Amino acid sequence: MGLIDLHCHILPGVDDGAKDLPMALNMAREAVKQGISHILLTPHHMDGMYTNHKEDVIKKTADFQCALDEAKIPLTVFPGQEVHLTGELLEAIDKNDILFMDEAGKYLLLEFPHSGIPEYTESMIFELIARGITPVIAHPERNHGFQKHPDKLYDFIEMGCLSQLTSSSYLGVFGDSVERLTQKFVDAKLGFIFASDAHNFEGRRFLMQDAFKKLTKETTEKKAILFNNNAKKIVNGETVSTDDILHVSSVKAKRKKKFWLF
Ligand SMILES: [Fe+2]
Repeated sequence: MGLIDLHCHILPGVDDGAKDLPMALNMAREAVKQGISHILLTPHHMDGMYTNHKEDVIKKTADFQCALDEAKIPLTVFPGQEVHLTGELLEAIDKNDILFMDEAGKYLLLEFPHSGIPEYTESMIFELIARGITPVIAHPERNHGFQKHPDKLYDFIEMGCLSQLTSSSYLGVFGDSVERLTQKFVDAKLGFIFASDAHNFEGRRFLMQDAFKKLTKETTEKKAILFNNNAKKIVNGETVSTDDILHVSSVKAKRKKKFWLF
C-alpha cells in the first residue's frame, strides 16, 4: 500500500480541478510518482459554485477508474465529496445526496468557508456528531477563522472532529504563515492526516511524498506512518484515536472545572 490521498480534485470536468480526462490522467501519473496508491475523489459540493450530486460522482468515479485501468495507471479511486458547510447540509444528508469518506457513512470531509467560521458551526457539528458522523475539517490552516484563533481547532476536535492538513500547506506553497500554522497543528497533535487537495500542476499539486518526507524529518517516522494509517482507517470507517489530544483536553477540562467551584 502506498500513500492514501483523501482530498483531491482530479475527477475531470466537475469543478475547478482537472479540466478534462487527459489532464486528469496526467495528474494521476503525477500522483503515482508521489507514491500515492489510493485517492478519494472529492469534488466541491454545495459551496455556492459547484454542485456534484452523489449519484453523479459515483458514476463518474467508475468511469474514471476504467480510464485509469485502460491507461495502465496503478491508482484506485473512490467516490467522495468536499462538502461545504452550509445550513442545508442536514437536509442534503437526509436526502441521501452526501458522500462520506467511507462506505459506512462515518466520516464527512467538511470544508468551512475560507473567510471564517460561521456562528452556527458549533451547533451543526453537534448535530452531525449526534448522528454518529465524524466531521473531518478540511485544511483548517487555510481558513481565516483558524488563522486568527488556532485554538478553535482544539475545541472542534474536543467535540469529536478530526482534521485534514494539506501537504502543500506544510511545504510552504501558501506562504510562510500557513506553513508555520500547519507545523503548529502537527506539533499540537491537532492534525490527523495529510491530503493533497490537488487541483492542477501549478500551485495546488500532489506533493504528498514531499510532505511525508518533511514530516519524518521534523517529527518521527512513526508520526508519518500514523498519518497514513489514519487515512486508511478513515476510508475503512474505523476509529481514529484522539487519545493524545483528549489527554491534554482532560487536563484543560479539570482546570475549567476548578473555576466553577468559586
Ligand atoms: Fe478541496
